[in-house]
Amino acid sequence: MLSKTIEKALNGQINAEIYSSYLYLAMSAWCESTGLAGFANWMRMQAQEEMFHAMKLYGFVHERGGRVFLDGIAAPPNVWKSPLDVIQSTLEHEQKVTGLINGLANLAQDERDHATTIFLQWFVSEQVEEEANVGAVLDKLKLIGMDTSGLFVLDQEMASRVFTPPTTSAK
Ligand code: FEO
Repeated sequence: MLSKTIEKALNGQINAEIYSSYLYLAMSAWCESTGLAGFANWMRMQAQEEMFHAMKLYGFVHERGGRVFLDGIAAPPNVWKSPLDVIQSTLEHEQKVTGLINGLANLAQDERDHATTIFLQWFVSEQVEEEANVGAVLDKLKLIGMDTSGLFVLDQEMASRVFTPPTTSAK
């Protein structure tokens, strides 16, 4: 059984993950509007991945006998200055999410909730991967600079991203 404190914190994270999905969908729409179809695809896959994170938490709360309460989702920004700006904003957002996950992990430890501690390990590792993935795109964009043919090639690369939910996910 989840304590009310952990239940509230996990519900807060469900909201944060759905907001992340909404934010990346807004980024996808912006990329689409600038003709960067590959970047738009990458962001759409990112949005799907975030909804998967939300549903993983949703499943865990129920599995532990808790209650999911859905809250309002804040409006995301809809405009960015450049592909570099959109990817830089993605990295900053992921760093913020890593902070939230670490905070949750600390709380689970403080509460001696071992099941939640183990469950959150997946998210801790996932954040390492998420930051590394977006960091790699950011590095390439910085190398490309103002070279539009480089941007064209990177856009094609971004078009190949697919999202396949891990088979070991929580319900
Ligand atoms: Fe669900 Fe990108 O963190």
